Amino acid sequence: MREVPSHFGPAHADAAKYREMYNESVENPEAFWGREGKRLDWITPYTKVKDTDFTFGNVSIKWFHDGVLNASVNCIDRHLATRGDQTAIIFEPDEPSDPAQYITYRELSEKVNRMANVLLSQGVMRGDRVVIYLPMIPEAAYAMLACARIGAIHSIVFAGFSPDALANRINDCGAKLVITADTAPRGGRRTPLKSNTDAALLHCSDKVRCLVVKHTGDQTTWIQGRDVDVKAMMEDVSPECPPRPMNAEDPLFILYTSGSTGKPKGVVHCTGGYLVYAAMTHEYVFDYHQGDVYWCSADVGWVTGHSYIVYGPLANGGTSLMFEGTPTYPDAGRFWEVCEKHKVNQFYTAPTAIRALMGQGPEYVEKYDLSALKTLGSVGEPINPEAWAWYDKYVGKGKCPIVDTWWQTETGGHMITPLPGAIPTKPGSATRPFFGVKPVILDPTTAVKQDETATEGVLCIADSWPGQMRTVWGDHERFQETYFSQYKGYYFTGDGCRRDSDGYYWITGRVDDVINVSGHRMGTAEVESALVAHQAVAEAAVVGFPHELKGQGIYAYVTLMNDVEPSDDLRKDLEKWVRTEIGPIAKPDVIQWAPGLPKTRSGKIMRRILRKIAENDTGALGDISTLADPSVVDDLIANRANKG
Ligand code: PRX
Repeated sequence: MREVPSHFGPAHADAAKYREMYNESVENPEAFWGREGKRLDWITPYTKVKDTDFTFGNVSIKWFHDGVLNASVNCIDRHLATRGDQTAIIFEPDEPSDPAQYITYRELSEKVNRMANVLLSQGVMRGDRVVIYLPMIPEAAYAMLACARIGAIHSIVFAGFSPDALANRINDCGAKLVITADTAPRGGRRTPLKSNTDAALLHCSDKVRCLVVKHTGDQTTWIQGRDVDVKAMMEDVSPECPPRPMNAEDPLFILYTSGSTGKPKGVVHCTGGYLVYAAMTHEYVFDYHQGDVYWCSADVGWVTGHSYIVYGPLANGGTSLMFEGTPTYPDAGRFWEVCEKHKVNQFYTAPTAIRALMGQGPEYVEKYDLSALKTLGSVGEPINPEAWAWYDKYVGKGKCPIVDTWWQTETGGHMITPLPGAIPTKPGSATRPFFGVKPVILDPTTAVKQDETATEGVLCIADSWPGQMRTVWGDHERFQETYFSQYKGYYFTGDGCRRDSDGYYWITGRVDDVINVSGHRMGTAEVESALVAHQAVAEAAVVGFPHELKGQGIYAYVTLMNDVEPSDDLRKDLEKWVRTEIGPIAKPDVIQWAPGLPKTRSGKIMRRILRKIAENDTGALGDISTLADPSVVDDLIANRANKG
């Protein structure tokens, strides 16, 4: 175990305080969260704190549910009197030679109010959905907070998703309007967001309006009557827009995420509990103190960007850095150059980025002065010990606690994580639960709770916490089915987990058909359905396999139609096809032509076998006697595509 006391003075918690607060949080959640809820400003204070039920068939989650507040007021207005001139957002553009922008709370307020008035002028009302398809630019934060101000529900679609994926999300949530930009520079290249949006809108109601941020000034098509130049319009509207009082349980946003079956589901987070939880975790987990410069390198298209670029840091009156670029452009020193330039105190990134940079050599880090750093964070996938050690040695200089934060889109905020100054770390372990979180480990087959300290099984959570998702948009049944049906009385995370004899938690990865590619979550079913939509494909099965840089890669077994011959051109065509159907992140790393797939007599594909073949672990295939045709396995092994 490693103790790394802060080299910047006392942290928010020490070991004794963590224990005391944790015990109260699980023994008396009403008192604990009743007090913590007051970190927000309420228009009508709540009298109720927790009203939650995990019983399958009756699942209902409410926090602070008679309270009234507005999220944008909590992230902006309430800071104006004391820190109006403090920088709220530092924007660091893709090109290092372009100037950074420093947006104060006062400026943020004006932008958000103006954007809110633009939305109102387009007929967006309380409860309406607004899809945001923007690069990492300040307008993305303005758009989120403008929605929150008028009570509209935002749903961000990651700018790396394809037009089809965008259209599906616009249609699923019934968005009235999309906010996009002309083009998105990233790593020196440009993604044509507006033309992607044009393509998506061909599959949507013609009532959907399109607000366009002219960011690069690149030429785009313009559809009169549908497209609106947001920046120009913001100049014409009032800089004041009264905030809409919202119930704590009114949805704040929807974020689509992949599951083990079917199409992505719209995870719904509500105003009060989510914001309390995002703010509290941001303060304690990063040990954020007033005046610190905090940088989370995620994209606002993922939950990490929601909770830890926008809502958490701004609710705390912090300074949050938004970075438009990539870790390796113009070279592998970019992250550290930005850390030096803005004297970043807390830095939060994903293991996949660390691994990519590690491979380029330490000289890119050593060039820069990183002495302002005090906390380093990791998120998205288990961090392997080599990456942890590199992060610790070259970036943290052995002086910065590394917080390996385990959580999910569904949980709204950190769930199992070290706290600087309070919980000593072990490389690769997410350590201990955050306040209010009751992790339990169950036997995967018997569902029996494992009470011994050292044990292994599936990870569930025994009781609700304020940041928990409330439902799946438009499908409460699916919500209950996905998270509460398999292990009755518990929230099922989908992750496997080990607890060691010190009571530390080690996440072992997904136990369902979800894979984690560079920290991006992907349902194998989604990639399969994209593949089978191609006219040459009869059947497809997709599994994950260990990948040195990405954590997991995508391995696709493809059975072609009878009259189609496999070829390299077809392989390229299928890769391109998946990119178009979902987005570049879903492109298979390996495609193996499979004359047949291993199926049981009832027709179920035995993915366990496909995983083993993809991992090149063919000595351990286990019992294959239940297969309808065991000989297909020999063919798949003989023709493994991933010979490495
Ligand atoms: O498998 C876990 C993994 O990422 C999943 C959640 O993915 P997503 O909803 O996209 O959210 C990612 C950002 C919060 C989890 O079920 N995961 C996330 N963080 C960690 C992790 N696995 C191990 N260690 C982590 N720190």
